[in-house]
Amino acid sequence: MSTTTATQKALVLPAPGGTYIVGETAIPRPGPNDVLVRLHAVGLNPVDWKVALPQFASLGLVPEYPFTPGSDGAGVVVEVGTDVSNFKKGDRVLFQGARPMKAGFGTFQEHSLVHSTLAAKIPENISFESAATVTSALITSFLALYNQESEQESLGYKPFWGEGGSPAYAGKPIFIIGGATSLGQYAIQLAKLSGFHPIITTASPRNTALLTSLGATHVVDRRLPADVILEQLPGLAGGKPLEVVFDSVSDSNTQVLAYRAVPSGGQLVLVLPDVIPAELKGGGEQKRIVMVRGSISFPHTQAAGVELFKHLTEWLEKGLIKPNAFEVVPNGLAGIPAGLERLKNNEVSAKKLVARPQETL
Ligand SMILES: NC(=O)c1ccc[n+]([C@@H]2O[C@H](COP(=O)([O-])OP(=O)(O)OC[C@H]3O[C@@H](n4cnc5c(N)ncnc54)[C@H](OP(=O)(O)O)[C@@H]3O)[C@@H](O)[C@H]2O)c1
Repeated sequence: MSTTTATQKALVLPAPGGTYIVGETAIPRPGPNDVLVRLHAVGLNPVDWKVALPQFASLGLVPEYPFTPGSDGAGVVVEVGTDVSNFKKGDRVLFQGARPMKAGFGTFQEHSLVHSTLAAKIPENISFESAATVTSALITSFLALYNQESEQESLGYKPFWGEGGSPAYAGKPIFIIGGATSLGQYAIQLAKLSGFHPIITTASPRNTALLTSLGATHVVDRRLPADVILEQLPGLAGGKPLEVVFDSVSDSNTQVLAYRAVPSGGQLVLVLPDVIPAELKGGGEQKRIVMVRGSISFPHTQAAGVELFKHLTEWLEKGLIKPNAFEVVPNGLAGIPAGLERLKNNEVSAKKLVARPQETL
């Protein structure tokens, strides 16, 4: 393939705080440890609309514009770097995109790069579309629970995988706010694999059957007043103190609910920055708060990422981790901005929006 001049379609943010357009870009070339993937399906995530906001640009996380975002990808390997031995042309793979946020690594294009240790083969029982729902949300929940290298961002729980697994959490209650979010669906599954019980979550009642099938033992209507939810928790937890509250929504209301639900000495996971009012924290209680950053390209998250990708194919194949349900948006990359708008307006429930880059007109 003469990739030096070959071009492709890509979704492009031309400048900070701008609007996405479909443009023509050079197909990226793999470095020695990268693989180049022809993308068949890509997942849409909240960060992909947030990255286009002017206030995001001021964080300096996007190194250069035009920028192609996209945090989840699934496709076929078409080229491998000179030092890559674990993948070959033709392998079906899934991976987290835009990590790092540099040119060539976002998934909202027809081809994307990924470091060879941070991708996994897609088992035969999983479609590209299903695979494209997995990585960023699973990585975020996984890092929040099991990353051993950051006390600020992770609970550092013992692995459930490996010899014997860890029984350390068996029979301990966990409360997961927002079980129907992508993050929440993976948090429920990981909590089950770690032995937590009961697994209490909040969601719209229409999602009860789904969340129960993933491992939730109790689904509380998320629209009940916080006081009512808090009143129900001790009974649902069987009188045991909650080991951890995992707030997979982390807006200003759920953070308050989460903080109030954590017993003194307990632990709280946030997935967005802490906005819990200072007066609530002033009661002298000891509550540990961690705020996860769901990227495996940081020095303190890479080892956990490599560990996850070592096992992911097997977990998907055996059904230990079930991908989210998905809906395909029309017109390939061109359909992504409208899909992101639906995410922004909270119009998507319990499923991932997925685009097929090769369908771009
Ligand atoms: N820290 C990180 O690196 C990181 C990474 C990824 C995502 N995030 C953040 O994590 C959050 C979740 O992301 P996602 O992609 O998993 O979300 P998502 O799948 O788009 O979330 C949609 C779901 O949110 C649920 N929901 C909304 N408000 C709720 C509330 N007050 N209580 C309970 N459930 C509520 C809805 O549940 P029902 O349908 O049941 O009503 C809906 O199904 C976002 O804020 C995102 O920005 C952070």
